[in-house]
Amino acid sequence: MPYVHQHLRLGVNIDHVATVRNARGGTHPDPVRAALLAAEAGADGITAHLREDRRHIADSDIERLTAEIGLPLNFEMAATGEMLAIALKHRPHAACLVPERREERTTEGGLDVVGGHNHLAPIIAKLRDAGIRVSLFIAPDRPQLDMAARLGAPVVELHTGPYCHAAAGALRAAELKRMAEAAAHGHGLGLEIHAGHGLDFETVGDVAALPEVAELNIGHFLIGEAIFVGLGPAIRRMRLTMNAARA
Ligand code: PXP
Repeated sequence: MPYVHQHLRLGVNIDHVATVRNARGGTHPDPVRAALLAAEAGADGITAHLREDRRHIADSDIERLTAEIGLPLNFEMAATGEMLAIALKHRPHAACLVPERREERTTEGGLDVVGGHNHLAPIIAKLRDAGIRVSLFIAPDRPQLDMAARLGAPVVELHTGPYCHAAAGALRAAELKRMAEAAAHGHGLGLEIHAGHGLDFETVGDVAALPEVAELNIGHFLIGEAIFVGLGPAIRRMRLTMNAARA
């Protein structure tokens, strides 16, 4: 029997609710209200990225998300001293290290954990010591996975951007194969496998069907779709699409 991670979790990224709010300033639409609605619609967790330039999520959003939502918070952060201090202050359930500068990323946009090993090791250790589950957002490449395991991160999030952006057909199939191989390899190393970036109703099924994947993080498409059908229905349909693919 092949390994199948039983419950495929859906993390809803609410960054772009804050993007719309910030377009005008003020408090509407409120990302915390979106997080509460996402919980009602079947999200298993909420993801938010506090960027160095605060272009969407603000410090006060992180404070309110940790205090007011009943779901685990996945705090996406650059590997900087400033973000580490904020994570240690709020102690989210999980912290996902993501690249913010060009030199921190691989050609495919994931965090370069091979090149950044010395810089990342102490940050990962401090987050882990604080009881925060560390995840590394990486390209689906063996060397990156091997180094993630050596760095002691319990989780990796595989970057699905190249798969989602590839034209449907042979190119996308090749990217999916890379994802499948990386998920199996990472699982073999003892890593919990998450995936995300760019997923929509069309692309989510094949990734949800990868048996080692335990969690998908999805934001931009769901917030965009919410304009047409509402956030609850968009999330419910995503959940059903994931469930159907996993079954
Ligand atoms: N996972 C990570 C690590 C991300 O940084 C993001 C946001 O870019 C996502 C998932 C969600 O991507 P999207 O908003 O394209 O669904």
